[in-house]
Amino acid sequence: MAFQERVFSGVQPSGNLHLGNYLGAIKRFVELQDRYSCIYCVVDLHAITVWQDPAELPRAIREVAAAFIACGIDPQQHIVFNQSQVAEHAELAWVFNCVARLGWLNRMTQFKEKAGKDRENASVGLYAYPTLMAADILVYRATHVPVGEDQKQHLELSRDIAQKFNNDFAGSIRDKGFGDAFFPLPEPLITGEATRVMSLRDGTKKMSKSDASDYSRINLTDDADAIAQKIRKAKTDPDPLPSEPKGLEHRPEADNLVGIYAALADSSRAAVLAQYGNAQFSTFKTALVDLAVAKLGPITTEMQRLLRNPLAIDAILADGAARAQKLAHETMKAVKDIVGFVRR
Ligand code: TYM
Repeated sequence: MAFQERVFSGVQPSGNLHLGNYLGAIKRFVELQDRYSCIYCVVDLHAITVWQDPAELPRAIREVAAAFIACGIDPQQHIVFNQSQVAEHAELAWVFNCVARLGWLNRMTQFKEKAGKDRENASVGLYAYPTLMAADILVYRATHVPVGEDQKQHLELSRDIAQKFNNDFAGSIRDKGFGDAFFPLPEPLITGEATRVMSLRDGTKKMSKSDASDYSRINLTDDADAIAQKIRKAKTDPDPLPSEPKGLEHRPEADNLVGIYAALADSSRAAVLAQYGNAQFSTFKTALVDLAVAKLGPITTEMQRLLRNPLAIDAILADGAARAQKLAHETMKAVKDIVGFVRR
């Protein structure tokens, strides 16, 4: 069955939006707007799977919304909202909790990493997180999901849940007139030169919001001086840059900086190395600072401008939530009929 093409993706409001979120996700969100109808969500229900200070959370939610808009997402043509305003996400997640198997969730590497050794003390929400993520996508029957490499396993689980729902309820889906399958199997879009941006301090570790060292990441709120300092201090190796991508193998820090440059310049590692092959890191870092400041500076400035008017951001989120809810409500009505609930 052919489904209407639609893009959905989400970003957690858990502070410290960084270059990885931008290059791996938000920049891709912007590019997809011309081709698809898009829904971009500030996933606040996901954020509270670990403790969030209630005094800080509203600002963090508005900051992600401001980043979406400052990077070029059009909240009028598309939909921008925060997850907790559309209760259908949590409602469908419950149904999916009853479709997904414990064995599937037990395989999720992100839970293992985030829960660490103190697993008994992790929230139930952190464990069930991927079923909520599947609900986020499928409550809009979205077909394409742009994400960074780290979300690949969660996307595979979303496909498994959609498939199992379609199989388990196949008879009912047909009886209610929905054809062979009710949910599409959402496709991950993991593309470009920066699907996994690494820490500036250690090229084998992912750039992350939660790294204790602020020098490990470039935040979307950093000013030009901070960006320059962080890039100048970024870990490198002693050799000059190679002239072809093959030469980046086993050089994680070099690979990361070249990848960042390529993604910021809308170019490729090969093209960057054609220009900077045999250059010393000092030369390359100077060029990278200039490029990063030129590309990120206007975004930071626009985010700050938007954040000075929180009421305007709240109005955008409310408008987006109302439009999202219309779509989500239709899906939930059908899901209730398919499952066999009695409804008004
Ligand atoms: P989150 O909030 O951790 O990250 C948001 C997006 O940024 C990408 N990303 C990176 N990309 C490249 N390099 C990095 N170092 C890097 N760090 C983060 C992530 O892959 C993601 O695309 N579970 C999701 C949010 C979510 C979601 C969804 C996504 C909830 N529901 C439904 C898609 C569809 C998360 O925690 O992303």
